[in-house]
Amino acid sequence: MLKLPELTRAAAAIRVGALVGMPTETVYGLAADALDAAAVLRIFTAKGRPRFDPLIVHCADAEHAWTVAEPSPRARRLAATCWPGPLTLVLPRRPIVPDAVTSGLDSVAVRVPDHPLALALIRACGRPLAAPSANLFGRISPTCAAHVREQLGDAVAEILDGGPCRVGVESTVLRPDPTPLILRPGGLTRERIAEILDERVDLADRSVRAEHLALPAPGLLASHYAPRTPLRLRRSLEPWPDGAGWLAFTGRDLPRIGTAVEILSADGDLAEAAASVFAALRRLDAANLPLIVAELVPESGLGAAINDRLRRAAGLG
Ligand code: TXA
Ligand code: MG
Repeated sequence: MLKLPELTRAAAAIRVGALVGMPTETVYGLAADALDAAAVLRIFTAKGRPRFDPLIVHCADAEHAWTVAEPSPRARRLAATCWPGPLTLVLPRRPIVPDAVTSGLDSVAVRVPDHPLALALIRACGRPLAAPSANLFGRISPTCAAHVREQLGDAVAEILDGGPCRVGVESTVLRPDPTPLILRPGGLTRERIAEILDERVDLADRSVRAEHLALPAPGLLASHYAPRTPLRLRRSLEPWPDGAGWLAFTGRDLPRIGTAVEILSADGDLAEAAASVFAALRRLDAANLPLIVAELVPESGLGAAINDRLRRAAGLG
């Protein structure tokens, strides 16, 4: 186990119910002891997150995860192949999980993060950790420690700096049973999940996702991952508009390089684009422009997760 003084302090903070900024391979999380309802409620307060939006519980390994969730055969198979990794499973909850974590649902979301500091923290404090992305509610997810400090520095006892996140978009949230359904596209592709399960995997549309969460108003969460600057999607073949910030995929058809241009991957590599999309959005947002225009990427593989975030940043849910 890593023996850093910050890790020891962070584990001690978790044990007394405080919040910790925790790196994962996807995005940084705002972590608290998942079995301590009062600590979990502090997460909602710090983020300004509505209580009806349940949290993911982070565990050290699959056996640990099965102490909070009941696995099914599909869940065991995916866990054996994909954990640690960017896959969250929505499974029947066990009674030790407080209502604060699941927003009262009878299911709980669990995953094993693929980051040495996250795993070391879980082991050092000996608790499963509830952690949403460490951003203010509705804003852009953090992919480095500085992003966490900016928005939530005052709310955390410690931020563990694990460098930039390798994957860059959040985990894929999958309800494996009765038939596999992706509730949120993310860092593990639908194609890969279908290959592992050797069956069809559906992607829930927005209304189905809202139904799942028993949201009071389905429209409420439409604007998510949003910069403060208005953002709209680029219509196909539309010339890049002057005066706006541009978020381009390969940048191949840019007329010229202006001052506020972000290219996600010059090589057209979707993994590279996913790793850079949130930081690129933040830089454009910081440039104080009247508008950001973002180009969608191809919808296959990780493109589904990137486009989901861009559509939500544009308020299109
Ligand atoms: O990569 C990630 O998943 C990051 C890192 C920190 O692990 N976490 C993250 O958490 O993105 P958050 O809270 O921003 O997103 C959790 C998602 C939400 O869309 C929530 O509605 C869904 O998981 N979720 C949690 N519990 C659920 C449940 N019981 N049923 C259905 N969806 C659930
Ligand atoms: Mg989030």
